[in-house]
Amino acid sequence: MVPSNKHWWIRRTKYPKQKKHMPIYISSIAHFVPPDIFTNSYFEDKVDTTDEWIKSRTGISERRFQTEGHLSDLLLPAVEQCLKERGIGPEEIDCVIVATITPDNRFPSASATLQAKAGMVNAWGYDISAACSGFLYGLMTGAGLITGGTCKKVLVCGGDKMSSILNFKDRTTCILFGDGGGVALLESTDDDSIGIQDSILRMDGKGGQFLYMSDHGDGAKAPFEEYPDEIKQHYVIQDGQSVFKSAVVGMADVSAEIMERNALTADDISWLVPHQANLRIIDATARRMGLDPTKVIINIDKYGNTTAGTIPICLSELHHEGKLKYGDKVILASFGAGFTWGSILLTWGIKS
Ligand code: UT7
Repeated sequence: MVPSNKHWWIRRTKYPKQKKHMPIYISSIAHFVPPDIFTNSYFEDKVDTTDEWIKSRTGISERRFQTEGHLSDLLLPAVEQCLKERGIGPEEIDCVIVATITPDNRFPSASATLQAKAGMVNAWGYDISAACSGFLYGLMTGAGLITGGTCKKVLVCGGDKMSSILNFKDRTTCILFGDGGGVALLESTDDDSIGIQDSILRMDGKGGQFLYMSDHGDGAKAPFEEYPDEIKQHYVIQDGQSVFKSAVVGMADVSAEIMERNALTADDISWLVPHQANLRIIDATARRMGLDPTKVIINIDKYGNTTAGTIPICLSELHHEGKLKYGDKVILASFGAGFTWGSILLTWGIKS
């Protein structure tokens, strides 16, 4: 049972800042979202909801759903663009990490499927199941492989085909999510002034009861919208209010903590790239950090919550719009099922 302490799930332990190693930076980034747009009015015909309710409670106006194909098909264009922009071939990747809760199959892994489709013939890899924090977990484990000397080029992918595991009859969940993903290439650099500076990653499995899917099976391969009754357990189940209360505190806590322990003020931060689950959670995090709203990246209005995809999609859009500059200080922040949550501080290293 949930202990009576209001924020029972937050460990107040202050984790030590990591020792400084050879800098690891994102040397290329790309994203992909399916072309089919589903506005809020699509749901007005299906469940008891309104465009006004969805917009005011979540900030979402529309989302993309992938009506054909699987997660690997969604990530493949992003992989190809990411490698092309770096000017390297797929055979140069040493390891591919895929953060997702909707792999094509229970096994083989999404990373193995993507490795074959993209021709990353020299890469090994693995999946990370950390829901909305998956991309952050992927960045830090990928960086660790490079720091440890095991790999030179690690491709970290974060994405989900949430439409495969949504119950389109449940108004409390189906309106929240979308499909999409992003891909970042991690490499080391001699340039001390850029790269991942610090991270705080957390998990508390006691939060698992509030956001979960009980079994996977072929859930992520189910045809769009059509679920045979016998596999209807393959849906996202969420106690929205409980997750909301925890997310507001958790995401803000780690974001403020990473600023504090790196002696950064709001003026030092160029961008907050938060997980896109609810505009109200994002606003609360930005307020706690004292950030000007113009520094907060928001695209939930266009894509909804793409789970492991939100942060790399935001980063890629910001980069491709030419807003993200070499030397910018960026904080990535997430909160999701598990519970998992965290923040990463990095200095942007791609010269435009
Ligand atoms: O990324 C993973 C992490 N997930 C999150 O961070 C999500 C966190 N939770 C949330 O974002 C919010 O809790 C929701 C957006 C899911 C829900 O917003 P809320 O303000 O917490 O609403 P609520 O759950 O308290 O529901 C309020 C009312 C209820 O009706 P009653 O009981 O007051 O009559 C719901 O049944 O709104 C009703 N409701 C809806 N009404 C119209 C719930 N969903 C809908 C809907 N349309 N789609």
